Amino acid sequence: MLTREMASVPNNLEPFWMPFTANRDFKANPRLIAKAEGMYYTTTDGQRILDATAGLWCVNVGHGRERVVEAIRAQAAELDFAPTFQFAHPKAFELASRLADLFPGDLDHAFFTNSGSESVDTALKIALAYQRAIGQGTRTRLIGRERGYHGVGFGGISVGGIVKNRMFFGSLLTGVDHLPHTLNLEHNAFSRGQPAWGAHLAEDLERIIALHDASTIAAVIVEPVAGSIGVYPPPQGYLERLREITEKHGILLIFDEVITAFGRLGKASASEYFGVQPDLVTTAKGLTSGTVPMGAVMARKHIHDAIVGGATSSPQTIELFHGYTYSAHPLACAAALATLEVYKEEGLFERAAELAPFWEEALHSLAGEPHVIDVRNIGLMGAVEMSSRPGKVGERAYEAMVKAWEKGVMIRITGDTIAMSPPLIVQKHEIETAVETVRSVVRELA
Ligand SMILES: Cc1ncc(COP(=O)(O)O)c(C=O)c1O
Repeated sequence: MLTREMASVPNNLEPFWMPFTANRDFKANPRLIAKAEGMYYTTTDGQRILDATAGLWCVNVGHGRERVVEAIRAQAAELDFAPTFQFAHPKAFELASRLADLFPGDLDHAFFTNSGSESVDTALKIALAYQRAIGQGTRTRLIGRERGYHGVGFGGISVGGIVKNRMFFGSLLTGVDHLPHTLNLEHNAFSRGQPAWGAHLAEDLERIIALHDASTIAAVIVEPVAGSIGVYPPPQGYLERLREITEKHGILLIFDEVITAFGRLGKASASEYFGVQPDLVTTAKGLTSGTVPMGAVMARKHIHDAIVGGATSSPQTIELFHGYTYSAHPLACAAALATLEVYKEEGLFERAAELAPFWEEALHSLAGEPHVIDVRNIGLMGAVEMSSRPGKVGERAYEAMVKAWEKGVMIRITGDTIAMSPPLIVQKHEIETAVETVRSVVRELA
């Protein structure tokens, strides 16, 4: 019989092949989480851990929120599953309408997925289908950006620009090109918020267009703030310039807002925060505050209408041959609707905006600490980049993550960069705890 103890502390760690994890080291020294509430995790040993990363950039309303938990519970009892291919259930429409209100301009149609990766692949496919629908079927190229992270599907890793995520997996999608990334420590280290230097890097899109010809390019996809690579806020004027160039050449602009949507920058979306209107927006994570897997692609009206309304075949014909068994899963819809209510009722986006200056101040106090070569921040996203040990990229940050965990704080790492993005309910003293823990950790590192 399976006892409680056996369920919470497994005696065999081997069968679970862990994603994006150093499996061997983890299984030698596991970091096992048993429960979560508010800003804190509790380990299987009973240690409290401050969640400075909102789980994985997703738990924006904090853990174990009664309203969300109850909504999921009630939904499971009422309607556990309903297909959304040719049938549907009311909450799917309710959620789509809420999202249409939340995203700027005419981003008013939602296509539901189960993750950020699926949202990215969906958006790329919608972009291609749109170009074809308007008679621009030669536009098949997709442009991403170096160091971009767009999940792990073949579409996402093709337009993405993180070498390790690409190099093991063959030749990827063809017809993809990349803009240069925007981090240059010589010019923009220790910027607060958006760096002043770097808008000119958007001009590289003109070079790419001149090389391939606009008539071959369907879409450009970027994270408005590069997140997973270690928080690169866009240089001032950069996103605006990308929008101008794409618009001029009939190229769609996709913002990958899997991290930035739902309050991370103190607004419902980065599109709203920066005042730049993309054609498609990918989301996931904060949509359900991480409780049930769900993503959504928001599409502007003309894109939806060109594919759905513009179909010349009979109304009985499917317009877009794409979807997932679990698109708009009832549990995910219930979780998302409850999460959106919590955001609104508790004013969490505004709260994030109000806390952002304090967050910035706290993070930048780490400038001058050992190994620290850059500090970056925007909204409630922050990164502390450390120099790498010669020939051992990532080793120093890995040690930092382990030490921070031992001291009771969960941080994320990428290369030798520490990233933090707390739930939007974080209190000032918890920001201080997170930052002071990072300070003591970097001081201990060789
Ligand atoms: C910008 C961006 N796109 C896509 C993804 C992939 O999301 P998922 O892990 O839910 O597939 C992520 C995940 O961190 C992300 O940050």
